[in-house]
Amino acid sequence: MTPYFLLLTYLALSVGGCYGYVRMCYYTNWAQYRGFKPNKIDPFVCTHIVYAFAKLQGTNILDIEWNDPTIQAGVIGLKSTNPSLKVILAIGGWNADNTQYVNLVANDTAMQAFADNAITYLRQRGFDGLDLDWEYPANLNRRGTAADRVQFTRWLQILQNNFIAESAATNQPRLLLTAAVAASMPTANNYYEVAKIGNYLDILNLMTYDFHGSWDGPSLGVQHHSALYPEGNSSVIGWIAAGFPANKIAMGMGAYGRSYTLNAQPTGNGIGASPSGYSQYNYKVICGKLNAGYQLIQLTNQGVVAALGQKFGQWEWIGFDNPSSFALKANYIRVNGLAGSMVWALDQDDENNTCGGGNYPLLSTLQQQLPAATDSSQSSTVYVPPSTSTSTSTTTTTTTYRPPTTSYNVPQNTNPNTTPRVPQCGMVWPVPSRCPARNERIPWEDNVYYLVCQASLFAVKCRCNGNMFYNPCRGTCDFRSNYFSCPIMYGKK
Ligand SMILES: *[C@@H]1O[C@H](CO)[C@@H](O)[C@H](O)[C@H]1NC(C)=O
Ligand SMILES: *[C@@H]1O[C@H](CO)[C@@H](O)[C@H](O)[C@H]1NC(C)=O
Ligand SMILES: *[C@@H]1O[C@H](CO)[C@@H](O)[C@H](O)[C@H]1NC(C)=O
Repeated sequence: MTPYFLLLTYLALSVGGCYGYVRMCYYTNWAQYRGFKPNKIDPFVCTHIVYAFAKLQGTNILDIEWNDPTIQAGVIGLKSTNPSLKVILAIGGWNADNTQYVNLVANDTAMQAFADNAITYLRQRGFDGLDLDWEYPANLNRRGTAADRVQFTRWLQILQNNFIAESAATNQPRLLLTAAVAASMPTANNYYEVAKIGNYLDILNLMTYDFHGSWDGPSLGVQHHSALYPEGNSSVIGWIAAGFPANKIAMGMGAYGRSYTLNAQPTGNGIGASPSGYSQYNYKVICGKLNAGYQLIQLTNQGVVAALGQKFGQWEWIGFDNPSSFALKANYIRVNGLAGSMVWALDQDDENNTCGGGNYPLLSTLQQQLPAATDSSQSSTVYVPPSTSTSTSTTTTTTTYRPPTTSYNVPQNTNPNTTPRVPQCGMVWPVPSRCPARNERIPWEDNVYYLVCQASLFAVKCRCNGNMFYNPCRGTCDFRSNYFSCPIMYGKK
């Protein structure tokens, strides 16, 4: 047998619809700072946990967090409860130093050295595979070069060949090779040799979210960041049409929403309304807002939902996914013969039923809808879509609307000219969005916190004292009325 035939045989055995679905879940090494340690992870809700992130430096994989070995061991230790669970290490991410990737893939010797070093790291720590999250090869705006596109394929080929050889030599299960990729077509064709990379990847983590946000600029108005239609579907179908095997695609879903603040109450479902600011929330925060009176909007034709309500008297529209839209997307995965789901990120779901929808309402929906071959007692209930809508306009279903109750206990400002109190700082935080310059301040988590950039990846996290909020206009924690009057109060630059 030729090595190539061997490779195809290995890969064919590693995935495939008749073997059940994969449920990839990212777990971040900064979730610990939200109190989400590995012991909060349900070991059965995902089939693969992808540990994000480690970093590439030269030809080596290096840790980012001071306690990565401990946190990694905690995640890998879940396998003692669920022996079928696979734990994969991700390198890269939005904040990675992309020049490291460009230099690595330009050099065959270096790629070979990296493969050796990666195998050593993964085996020593007990990982089951490697996930490449380079955002993105050949993206000239993010330090890529035109040569990256072809060289990325070569990197995958070298890694997979080494993983196969190592497995044969050591008689251990082969390390898995996965990659998180840009979803939108045709853009993704510029970054990847779509028809070739499926030969080397076990699973493709298709990032079918973040389609819209502050980076759109205000002219598009309010948009949903993770709509199944048109963006999610055209991405999936686009990848398949360009030659990527459907049964290796894990369709990405977000356990978070992206929100817009509005100057006025929107008409209709809010799509297209003019934004005055941007933010994002974890599902567990959004479900709390719904319980506190935010209105649930069904964007039926887009296959997703939104929440609309008022925060400190200002209208706020949050595009997000709930268990119903996750079930709809799971149905899409089954109908289109995809490998399964991918979720960013584990700690954002309501893991401990604070909202009354059960533990892990999003991820357990996928567990039910996308059974894995290794799930022992799962039965696949066929999902019935929520409506038979055939209308061409996006419909708005209004659930019983209750005016928002004041869910934030904020004292009235008695003296707005008093110097705000000194905040509590200390935690070092890997910055999940760009940290542009040292000492730049970024509003964080509803402006209860802010980050002070230290380096591209690190910032000091500060909590505003008492009931103050970070006011970007003044660059400091501030009283409620001042925070209100700041036109960029939700972190818009
Ligand atoms: C290629 O990588 C090897 C190993 O890291 C290094 O020694 C060599 O200098 C690199 N070659 C070039 C042209 O950068
Ligand atoms: C899904 O996307 C494909 C490719 O863009 C398109 O042809 C098809 O009509 C879409 N399906 C739906 C239901 O919108
Ligand atoms: C989950 O919630 C219950 C009930 O509120 C609480 O007793 C328990 O400590 C929580 N568990 C975790 C892991 O947070």
